[in-house]
Amino acid sequence: MCGIIACVGNKPAAPMLVEGLKRLEYRGYDSAGVAVVADQGLEIARSVGRVSVLESLLGDDGPQGTLGIAHTRWATHGVPSEENAHPHSAMTKSGHTVALVHNGIIENYQTLRKYLAESGYDFTSQTDTEVLAALIAHLYDGDLEKAVQGALREVNGAYAIAVVSDAEPHTLICARKGSPLIIGIADQSYVVASDAAAIVAHTTQGITLDDYQVARLCAGPVDRHSTDGGPWSVEFRTTTIDNQRVTRDIRQLDLDLQQIELGVYPHYMLKEIMEQPEAIRTCLRGRIDERDGRVVLGGLSGYTRELVRAKRFLLAAQGTAYYAGLIGEYLLHDLAKVSARCEYASEFRYRNPTIEDDSVMLAVSQSGETADTLAALGEARERGALGIGVVNVVGSSIASETDAGVYLHVGPEIGVASTKAFLGQVLILTLIALHIGRRKYLSQETVAEYLHQIGRLPEMIERVLEQSDHVRQSVPQFVERDNWLFLGRGYNWPVAMEGALKLKEISYIHAEGMPAAEMKHGPIALIDEGMPVVFVAPQGSQYDKVISNIEEVRARGGRIIAVGTEGDEDIGSYADVVFRIPDVPEPLQPLLSVIPLQLLAYHAAVQRGHDVDKPRNLAKSVTVE
Ligand code: G6P
Repeated sequence: MCGIIACVGNKPAAPMLVEGLKRLEYRGYDSAGVAVVADQGLEIARSVGRVSVLESLLGDDGPQGTLGIAHTRWATHGVPSEENAHPHSAMTKSGHTVALVHNGIIENYQTLRKYLAESGYDFTSQTDTEVLAALIAHLYDGDLEKAVQGALREVNGAYAIAVVSDAEPHTLICARKGSPLIIGIADQSYVVASDAAAIVAHTTQGITLDDYQVARLCAGPVDRHSTDGGPWSVEFRTTTIDNQRVTRDIRQLDLDLQQIELGVYPHYMLKEIMEQPEAIRTCLRGRIDERDGRVVLGGLSGYTRELVRAKRFLLAAQGTAYYAGLIGEYLLHDLAKVSARCEYASEFRYRNPTIEDDSVMLAVSQSGETADTLAALGEARERGALGIGVVNVVGSSIASETDAGVYLHVGPEIGVASTKAFLGQVLILTLIALHIGRRKYLSQETVAEYLHQIGRLPEMIERVLEQSDHVRQSVPQFVERDNWLFLGRGYNWPVAMEGALKLKEISYIHAEGMPAAEMKHGPIALIDEGMPVVFVAPQGSQYDKVISNIEEVRARGGRIIAVGTEGDEDIGSYADVVFRIPDVPEPLQPLLSVIPLQLLAYHAAVQRGHDVDKPRNLAKSVTVE
């Protein structure tokens, strides 16, 4: 949702912070700010808009100092404005300044704000974060770590924070509950960030904090009064908010710089679409034993009995992950012959769900931080369900809250519009369904045949991607139209929904996805001369019915964009444009049929002149409900 970067050490902070913000910009980009503890005190600069605006504001000689914090924001409380941008600051009784950057949400901020206002604080913003800054300043009595611990004992909600003060010019305090935070340990310095993308340029060693933990990171001259440098000392300690010492292991950060660089691509979205063959190879590594017809999911070992015995699967997710979950529902019915239902996590968590015995909740999420999905998982587990994560980001909140899980391993996804993670989610759900099915109804031969096809997916995806130019050249004839329909049946209606979502997200074209048959129950009224209607129509059990739907649209003047099977000559006679996918069994079709729709959305957005990687109003990860 928002991005945090902070550093303390022996290098100038401002350039490091700005560079880190650029790497985090995909998490939020409506305002940004930086605070550096400089010789003459704490210097804060904030601006509305992209990080580049902040960068120009700082100019070539930005604040000098080696301790600082920075933030790129996606507004929740209060409009995007300079006052509401982070860092927020407040004055201590001793006349020092405390500055803070924060991800998450302080739920009881109104009560705290009232209390602090009565104690004399003048608030300049509408944010919950400024209240936390004021509370820390209010409690400051010569020890920043203690003040942070004390303040965090008073707050309800979620936070990842980094705090500095000019009273302690070599100390950075950070803490987390619910929102992610990683502490990178570099040579003579520490770099803290809300995700590893901003750290790996500096170090691949780091520690993570658990909920309610605080880290005090100090880096400065051994002689704290020395003005000409001298020997340097770095030290950190970790505690709970109740000041109990805790030990955190230093571990290798699972990311390399190349994964988060654009390379030859103009946009992350295109890079991530194009790297899907490799992403799927990595996702599959070690997981399929084609010869024995066996799926190997290490993260679920120890839970096979529960999974096989489960009477009901619940899938909870939001956004693109929800559409992957809908496909999961079909896969579990079809391949594992078990009752399954996918719901929006935001609805599930509040509808007082009845959870029968032997239920399994699959929480599907790229980031592992989506607030509603995390809460739905908690609700289901509270009521006795086994919680399984289908998550991309290793060590994320959802991954930590599950009983077991399977990581997607598709690599970091930076583009706000999710692409390769969708493919990873659908693939993992396919493997889970086959894993259970094999132990119930599916023969070794049947599973072996599926796994054989799955093993060929990377190469088949490459074939679909070769049509990128064809998609690009087809787009101009439709791109000026502001209303599109996306239709499919069976496994391909969630794909149609995902195709419509992709187009909406980045090209701002209004698009609706639905089961093809549903069109006749209302949406057909929208079809007029030239309206683009996308049919996800590979050959399969409902192919003839989809063709009838295509005819209904054509009869009303709609123009047809079809995703069809390679070698299907018929579809060409019905459609204005056809994109092709290799012939695979129906349960595997979504893994291919979604790709032309990703390309369609991408090229449409580029041709409409939009910033594909930073679509308006969207954030990569929604950590508030
Ligand atoms: C946001 C993103 C979507 C994503 C959804 C769920 O809305 O913009 O791309 O699908 O959150 O995110 P998750 O990380 O849980 O998959």
